[in-house]
Amino acid sequence: MYNEKRFKNNLLQWFDTEQRAMPWRETKNPYYIWLSEVMLQQTQVKTVIDYYLRFIARFPTIRDLSEAHEDEVLKLWEGLGYYSRARNFHTAIRDVHQNHNSEVPMDPKTFGALKGVGPYTQAAVMSIAFDQPLATVDGNVFRVWSRLNNDTRDTKLQTTRKAYEAELAPYVQQSAGDFNQAMMELGAMICTPKAPLCLFCPVQEHCEAFEQGTVADLPVKTTKVKKKVIKQHVYLVKNEFNEYLITKRKANLLNNMWQFPMYDIEDEHSLESDIGVNINFYKQSSYQLKHQFTHLTWDIKVFEAKHIVHKEDITLTADMEWLDLNQKDNYNFPVSMTKIYQFLRE
Ligand code: ADE
Repeated sequence: MYNEKRFKNNLLQWFDTEQRAMPWRETKNPYYIWLSEVMLQQTQVKTVIDYYLRFIARFPTIRDLSEAHEDEVLKLWEGLGYYSRARNFHTAIRDVHQNHNSEVPMDPKTFGALKGVGPYTQAAVMSIAFDQPLATVDGNVFRVWSRLNNDTRDTKLQTTRKAYEAELAPYVQQSAGDFNQAMMELGAMICTPKAPLCLFCPVQEHCEAFEQGTVADLPVKTTKVKKKVIKQHVYLVKNEFNEYLITKRKANLLNNMWQFPMYDIEDEHSLESDIGVNINFYKQSSYQLKHQFTHLTWDIKVFEAKHIVHKEDITLTADMEWLDLNQKDNYNFPVSMTKIYQFLRE
């Protein structure tokens, strides 16, 4: 990058005229900006918009959210995935309500100490809401900056992230929020992973990878370790009232969300041992699906009971219920379970 000033001007001018309309770009409310940044992690803009609008309509202030029950917060998050984001955000908002007078801290260090706030969220919220001079480094920025500098360092390494933050620091001394968003917007709209639109790029003249013909080779990421696949069996048990047995998860992943009884096939537990009743299931699974998480994949087979079970024959514990299919909206269901539910409704 040899003409820093011209580069920044070109980028900001492009952002000013070409940026997509997003509801969180219409506000300076740091709580709303923070919410949008939490939702935008791992999720695309077009998906986030509806969730964001529903969330702020239901919880317009930090106080409203801090008083909410976690189940309701998770319900509004249903379908976005990565539910620990919602839990941590909720915890952090309660902290802000109780210990910071319901005001999002303007000091990056204080803000960065809140639950779930990592370097990305810290830089994004502090720069967009308060123009604090911190550079956001997300997947978009890794791609854009590595190409601009024809930089082949491994973007999976913490040392590379630190180097990028330092290299970008001079650009965020002024207009940090706009600069950061412009970098991410460029990564989303022009400097895309596949088939980037270099001919429309506002900063093409500054791009060393374009000049060298190496755009397609960047960014460099060490190949990921293969994801663990966990085989799961789901059991559909129906009673004479057309209700299905569901259980509340007790696990790190998707804790407290509801599911049709599901067992890791390598686990000791079984449905029989949990409910104390023997049920016959068809040997053939009636539905199969895969669900991807960041670090693992569930390979799920769904088995249906051969016979209807009498409601009185099963003594429900606190973490079990009979689900009337018309009442699903009263429960938090993860996406994989919603798919099974939809299979049942077909
Ligand atoms: N991705 C995450 N946050 C963003 C923002 N504020 N602008 C553009 N892309 C984003």
